[in-house]
Amino acid sequence: MKPSIVLAGSLATALLALGAVGLALGDDDDHDEHRHEHRSRGWVAPGEDVQPVANATYAEECGACHMAYQPGLLPGDAWQQIMAPDALTDHYGDDASLSPDLRQEIAGYLAANAAELSGKSRSHAFSVGDAGAGALPRITATRYFRNEHHEIPAKLVKGNPDVGSFSNCNACHQGAAEGVYNEHRVRIPGHGRWDD
Ligand code: HEC
Ligand code: HEC
Repeated sequence: MKPSIVLAGSLATALLALGAVGLALGDDDDHDEHRHEHRSRGWVAPGEDVQPVANATYAEECGACHMAYQPGLLPGDAWQQIMAPDALTDHYGDDASLSPDLRQEIAGYLAANAAELSGKSRSHAFSVGDAGAGALPRITATRYFRNEHHEIPAKLVKGNPDVGSFSNCNACHQGAAEGVYNEHRVRIPGHGRWDD
């Protein structure tokens, strides 16, 4: 019994020492932020910014015309507006109406996994601010989205046949389907890496 106590004691000392080194290195803000990001993403799937889609009905029905946006890209009240029966029949100019059963399943999945409920810090950024006054809410109208994309010239988006619209996240974000949006995996078609 004694040796294990001694061992535990020296382990604790070693950990304390490591902690002190960590603090010393963490002095610089940038470094600290990176360490924090690594930790909050967890070790199972490093690099995820938002939780990947995990509902087959949603993936199929809402991924038919564009990528199935991760629920963590919009707050719950925005998803609720989008999933209202009337809104689905006039869905950004398209008819995306669903049977009552499917609609209910998908609305439930979106509500339970909306941005403000996610453990991912990137999702929290999407939950802040107005996602579009009057019209149907958009991910691309959120304050966070606009802040991250305002420097990209229209000729690379609307004027780019391989992109067409900011709504096509996966045209530029190579990891979009897995919920990876960080700047290291952005390639704008016809432009290449984005260095700002
Ligand atoms: C029939 C085709 C179709 C289906 C099915 C469809 N959508 Fe869409 N969706 C569109 C179109 C078209 C747009 C507008 C894209 C644009 O502006 O470039 C859009 C836009 C969106 C946007 C806004 C994207 C942005 O600009 O931020 C969201 C959110 C969205 N759809 C969610 C859904 C959900 C949830 C479902 C399933 C219930 C769904 N869509 C099914 C055609 C569809
Ligand atoms: C025309 C190409 C393009 C499209 C389409 C696009 N993005 Fe981006 N996105 C970029 C670029 C370029 C950046 C900036 C990278 C940088 O400089 O940090 C960016 C940045 C981001 C960031 C911040 C990344 C970080 O590391 O801070 C997020 C989150 C993001 N985009 C999500 C989306 C989502 C969600 C969609 C679809 C609704 C989308 N983007 C559509 C090009 C695009």
